[in-house]
Amino acid sequence: DTGPLRDKFGRVVTDLRVSVTDRCNLRCTYCMPAEGLQWLPTDEVLTTAELTRVMTVAIRDLGIRSVRFTGGEPLLRRDLEDLIGAISGRPERPEIAMTTNGLGLARRIDGLVAAGLHRVNISLDTVDPARFAEITRRDRLDDVLDGLSAARSAGLRTVKVNAVLAGHEDLARLPDLTRFCLEHGYQLRIIEQMPLDADHRWDRASMVTADEILAVLRSHFPLRADPRPRGSAPAATWLVDGYQVDEAPARIGVIASVTRPFCGDCDRTRLTADGALRNCLFAQGETDLRAVLRSGLPEVELDAAIAQRWRGNTWIKAAGHGVNDPDFHQPTRPMSAIGG
Ligand code: GTP
Ligand code: 5AD
Ligand code: SF4
Repeated sequence: DTGPLRDKFGRVVTDLRVSVTDRCNLRCTYCMPAEGLQWLPTDEVLTTAELTRVMTVAIRDLGIRSVRFTGGEPLLRRDLEDLIGAISGRPERPEIAMTTNGLGLARRIDGLVAAGLHRVNISLDTVDPARFAEITRRDRLDDVLDGLSAARSAGLRTVKVNAVLAGHEDLARLPDLTRFCLEHGYQLRIIEQMPLDADHRWDRASMVTADEILAVLRSHFPLRADPRPRGSAPAATWLVDGYQVDEAPARIGVIASVTRPFCGDCDRTRLTADGALRNCLFAQGETDLRAVLRSGLPEVELDAAIAQRWRGNTWIKAAGHGVNDPDFHQPTRPMSAIGG
């Protein structure tokens, strides 16, 4: 019972997304209510040692080659540098990335990079301060912009900006956001909103589609097909003529999870902050690794038990997310508790 993580459709899982907390310091309207959610009690959240153990098994025994830290907001974990450091020195040399809202990133970026962080993706839906405050319900645009420029100055590989368009009215603001990213050397990706909001308010009619996004982009910027193979990436990308980032052509991406699903090439698996394995964002079932971690099994048996459960969880990964099926129903865990 060895070898890589394989599902019954032949996809091999090599990317692990680790949600390190379900908490967040923003309240994006498409994600959570103004009052926040019922956060996980501290004792239910995996400790530094537990997370390190799980990530080690994943990288050493299960063929995981890249790890992405997410949340909630991952910077709310004060041990993030330790978690990165715990895997960055491994002989397998995993790629280490983070998806963050950028608040407080400027203060921590040097320590994170020193610990071994390779890449950051930062969420920014608009550069209009009033609209930013409306969407996130916090007046923190300048902090996010500081985080972005700190990430760029820290010499990280491609800094990406993730934008969810909260409504069709945001299409009119897209050219400004795009120009801002092109001028500062950030790779913008615009994301179709998925039915993962805590309030279960998502509806197809208010979702801004990839076609609508591309029509606006093409009317303002000269886009050209990207020759680079897409692989398993969620984003389809285009080159933007006339703009460069570090002497390479500038790119822009669209993540069309709903209208152009990319599940057939998925290589991802997820660990929630409370230690549940999810083989898909939309998985209806989970595998509880925390119970294994806290079962009192002797050290020598623990890693094997984790690996065995993980293989079982991967094997039953569904072919696709099913969002477009007539009998689709949203998973109970919201985006902020899965990690995006
Ligand atoms: P890169 O390695 O930089 O391409 O990162 P990424 O785009 O995989 O990760 P990121 O955390 O920046 O996610 C951007 C958007 O893609 C978010 O809305 C995620 O929820 C979405 N996303 C990431 N992975 C998946 C996936 O497996 N399925 C779906 N449907 N969406 C995903
Ligand atoms: N659909 C798509 N993307 C979402 N994000 C948050 N909620 C949703 C949703 N319902 C984005 C965040 C962040 C990334 C991790 O996921 O804006 O950039
Ligand atoms: Fe926080 Fe991300 Fe949700 Fe915004 S989208 S409230 S940054 S978890």
